[in-house]
Amino acid sequence: MISAKDIKNGLRTRVIGSSITYLDQTTSTNDYARKLAEEGAAEGTVVLAGTQTSGRGRFGRQWHSPLGGVWMSIVLRPPSNRPLQKIALLCGLSIAQTLRELYKIDAAVKWPNDVLVEDKKISGVLTEGNFRGQTPLSVIVGIGINANIALKTLPQELRYQATSLKTLLGRNVSLNKLVRTFLTTMDRNYELFIKDKDKGLWLEYKRICKTIGLQVRVASWRGEVYEGLAEGISSEGGLILRTKRGSELTILSGECFHLRAKT
Ligand code: BTN
Repeated sequence: MISAKDIKNGLRTRVIGSSITYLDQTTSTNDYARKLAEEGAAEGTVVLAGTQTSGRGRFGRQWHSPLGGVWMSIVLRPPSNRPLQKIALLCGLSIAQTLRELYKIDAAVKWPNDVLVEDKKISGVLTEGNFRGQTPLSVIVGIGINANIALKTLPQELRYQATSLKTLLGRNVSLNKLVRTFLTTMDRNYELFIKDKDKGLWLEYKRICKTIGLQVRVASWRGEVYEGLAEGISSEGGLILRTKRGSELTILSGECFHLRAKT
């Protein structure tokens, strides 16, 4: 069982986890955290739920949130001079690092912020900003980790593309330890990001990024579709593509499909 008290016990973070709320059930932790943010919640406020009745993923998709997973949102108040879209990548990296550290599994990132193990999705990130004009008042980072979840509890169509810690390790893990370790990792990475000292993090991101070196198709928010060889990550967190015609383009945000290995 998730316990806010247990997570806080021994948590030594600067910002992330400044306050932790656990709810047995909510519609979406992102909605709950957004409401707290609008009421003035401090940066680093964390909301966790046992289950979500309207959990959502990127591109308006439903996110299945049965008991046993980590469904969590964090209120961030980043300065406007930092590239905001990198926060999602930072979060994906922090999840992958946590899974590698705790369970010695080969967790990788798929641009921009999915976490994969054995090419199957184990975790996703949904960032939602609240702006006044161009100024971000808050960014809500929603994190879903398939932890103690039997794949048979997920809809049939997701079972072949998703995985869980329970499936990979053959046992349940301590959710409190998983959350505490993640918050610690995210806190360290977020501080480096804010201070513009995150060069090493992006080297690590690229090292464990499955997307780079593959032929990919990327659908942008506006519905444009691009295909090409993923060559790298830009300084703003965009995916650098080399198209069939040889031109280079950078896509700041979108949904990425891995097509095949470099030929
Ligand atoms: C994705 O990969 O599409 C993103 C999934 C994000 C799911 C998490 S679960 C906690 C938070 N609350 C939500 O409704 N969504 C995010």
